[in-house]
Amino acid sequence: MARHTPYIITNEADLNAYESTIDLALCGVDLAYEHETRYAQQGAHDPTPTHYFILEELFKHCPLDKNTHLLDVGCSTGRVLAYYLRAGHPGQATGVELDPELAAIAQAWTARYPNLHVLQGNALDLDLSAYTIFYLFNPFSPGMLQRFIESIELQVSGTCTVIHTSDNGDTWHYVGRPGWTEVASGAIEHFRNARGYRVKVFDHPQHYTVWRYDGNA
Ligand SMILES: C[S@@+](CC[C@H](N)C(=O)[O-])C[C@H]1O[C@@H](n2cnc3c(N)ncnc32)[C@H](O)[C@@H]1O
Repeated sequence: MARHTPYIITNEADLNAYESTIDLALCGVDLAYEHETRYAQQGAHDPTPTHYFILEELFKHCPLDKNTHLLDVGCSTGRVLAYYLRAGHPGQATGVELDPELAAIAQAWTARYPNLHVLQGNALDLDLSAYTIFYLFNPFSPGMLQRFIESIELQVSGTCTVIHTSDNGDTWHYVGRPGWTEVASGAIEHFRNARGYRVKVFDHPQHYTVWRYDGNA
């Protein structure tokens, strides 16, 4: 059943305000974090949360069951984990976040949910072998992304899915690599509000790609 927003959203500011009410109801904290990253020298991008409606769209492309283990690569305060909880998805969801301040916020609100986990550290140092889905919303520089994709190829023994959103340019890092198949791609620029109108919420379309990797299967 479609979820209806309690008031009419006409721009991105309205959408952010509406999503803050969802964050507060679910997590007890507003997950939007508007400061620039303090880790740009390590290749980190700013901690902007993904909109809930984008996550709803993207996760339609993924098989989710009790064996699913999602890794949100650069989870910030935990918006993707909040989406996972709200959607009632089965399985486990873990976020890893480089910035200790952001990781602490995510760790605090997820502590009461046994299927949600937050690690503080560099995603490039993680053992990736247990994860079945990786979610990346523009977390870091192209060089870091290249290394992260190589880690997946080295460590994931079965099949995994990678959702990469706001991948403008980044998608080319996956193209042509053995074992990678594009499952879906598209661009999101509009939110459909409760009256059914399309509201432009981005200046430019946010491109996404969903990949399956089964190079070691
Ligand atoms: C654009 S935000 C995405 C937030 C969240 N994934 C979401 O979609 O709502 C990118 C996040 O990645 C984090 N990050 C950047 N480099 C990282 C790394 N090497 N390891 C872990 N987290 C990292 C940043 O600190 C930032 O919080």
